[in-house]
Amino acid sequence: MEFSVKSGSPEKQRSACIVVGVYEPRRLSAVAEQLDEISGGYISNLLRRGDLEGKSGQMLLLHQVPNILSERVLLVGCGKERELDERQYRQIISKTINTLNETGSMEAVCFLSELHVKGRDSYWKVRQAVEATQDCLYSFNCLKTRKEEPRRPLRKIVFNVPTRRELPIGERAITHGLGISAGIKECKDVANLPPNICNPAYLAEQANALAGQYEKISAEVVNEEKMQELGMGSYLAVGRGSINESLMSIIHYQGGSKDAAPIVLVGKGLTFDSGGISLKPGEAMDEMKYDMGGAAGVLGTMHALAELNLPINVIGVLAGCENMPDANAYRPGDILTTMSGQTVEVLNTDAEGRLVLCDALTYVERFEPELVIDVATLTGACVIALGAHATGLLSNHNPLAHELLNASEQSGDRAWRLPLWDDYQEQLESPFADFTNLGGRAAGTITAACFLARFTKKYHWAHLDIAGTAWRSGKNKGSTGRPVSMLTQFLINRCAVEQGE
Ligand code: BES
Ligand code: MN
Ligand code: ZN
Repeated sequence: MEFSVKSGSPEKQRSACIVVGVYEPRRLSAVAEQLDEISGGYISNLLRRGDLEGKSGQMLLLHQVPNILSERVLLVGCGKERELDERQYRQIISKTINTLNETGSMEAVCFLSELHVKGRDSYWKVRQAVEATQDCLYSFNCLKTRKEEPRRPLRKIVFNVPTRRELPIGERAITHGLGISAGIKECKDVANLPPNICNPAYLAEQANALAGQYEKISAEVVNEEKMQELGMGSYLAVGRGSINESLMSIIHYQGGSKDAAPIVLVGKGLTFDSGGISLKPGEAMDEMKYDMGGAAGVLGTMHALAELNLPINVIGVLAGCENMPDANAYRPGDILTTMSGQTVEVLNTDAEGRLVLCDALTYVERFEPELVIDVATLTGACVIALGAHATGLLSNHNPLAHELLNASEQSGDRAWRLPLWDDYQEQLESPFADFTNLGGRAAGTITAACFLARFTKKYHWAHLDIAGTAWRSGKNKGSTGRPVSMLTQFLINRCAVEQGE
């Protein structure tokens, strides 16, 4: 897809389609008004006859509108003018893109980027439009022998901004939107792959591929032998039931000065989570191929970061592993010694994510990080608490939590904070080891984070539980690319602070 920005009047556009908004009830947006005048009231006539009410997401495609140079005019319902918010704006853009893609317009000039969205500027509107477009046009069909593609797909879209002065802002928004979208695509592509293709070695290949692609990126892989030397007994235990070797891939992005402390992102990379000896029930078990969504999100964020060429140092860790039942598998009752030296009594082999992450979180101490964020499809309880809309956020440092919440609001990739009070730590007590890997049914997302908190005392840390947000279930199942957008926004904001922008 080709994107550009322009500042022009609608009647002068010579395009396959121009896209303008209509509010409810039957009220023309400023741009639609202009078209209406030129066309001698053609549009207002249609509205009066009841062809379009203006409800959010309604579409009416017009051909050969009098005195209009463009071949088509797409009227898009935007709901009540005062109620147009961020979510609705994104939905309207998505519907518009789908309509354009299906109705043969290979290019379009879109004026929806001029709509008033409460508290949002042209940068935000153009960037969101780019991200929504790329999200909409994504399909994962590399494993289908017959690919369905539109006959005349949308190829080029121009977003209009109200004044020429805003053109550079619009261009910057497109650059950012494209960089983030590239990261989201990478995240989706890897996460959607089946577990017989995407295993820990595949994740390592992707890390190396990224290093080959960008000068500022290098990669290294920690294999089981090295993990043994390091004493990563917990991580190793989880992978013992699988014939696929556990591999922890480390991606270094050096965009800042050599001595600047890095931001570290750690992603849970369970390329399949069967539950192990505490085997999961069969229903929807295939979806546990997405249990590497955290690693995919970190990989995607590293990609976006490199595309945007941000001036900071970031290290991404993909904690690759497969949780399988086998004669050699770890079992409930086992007591593991973690890299930190702390011992853990395993009460359920399906609470494996925290066992992999805890050693990865200890490992990253060596980077003397500025801060650490881990990203994980960690608990079913998070899906129960927050559903598919918000990522769970827990942190041992309030300013970091607020920065992440800000980034999540800005990007529309939303998160919600849960408490990490010591009160919950009791639920992990064990009679035999330092603690267990299971906190019981109550507050499962919090006790999982409490477990991790015992390994992150040496730095500022936040945990993102993306169990509900990383993929969609059901007929249209697939990776969402979350939380690449939020994390990249967080990193963009960090650069702005450091450069005093
Ligand atoms: N990967 C799962 C969490 C999960 C479940 C993500 C459903 C998305 C949808 C994790 O490894 C797991 O199995 N968690 C258990 C923990 C429990 C045994 C304490 C869970 O949530 O049931
Ligand atoms: Mn599990
Ligand atoms: Zn898991």
